[in-house]
Amino acid sequence: MMSDEFINVADITDIEINQSQSVELEGKAVLICHTTKGIFAVEDKCSHADIPLCGGQIIDNFITCPVHGAVFDLTDGSVQSPPAFEDLETFEVQIEGTSISVKKSFSE
Ligand code: FES
Repeated sequence: MMSDEFINVADITDIEINQSQSVELEGKAVLICHTTKGIFAVEDKCSHADIPLCGGQIIDNFITCPVHGAVFDLTDGSVQSPPAFEDLETFEVQIEGTSISVKKSFSE
């Protein structure tokens, strides 16, 4: 069953611009990214070697994996640069004031 519920996970004032924060949502690590292009949420797991992306450099709406340098577009999770070749899962984000909520829509 899919749920459309949004869960509050973080506050914008706690994440500096071009920084990210890893949160746990239903047992899954989700990376909340505060970029100059907005707030995005992607799975906190590089699709190359299943290692957290947290701490990766963020420029505009792109994050670079801190391990081997794969680049992902945070807006849609699409891979932009090897060695990764699979896209990231993305999550819908809702902002209310400074409060960040992520849509809980896990099918597993
Ligand atoms: S783990 Fe991210 S590029 Fe290798």
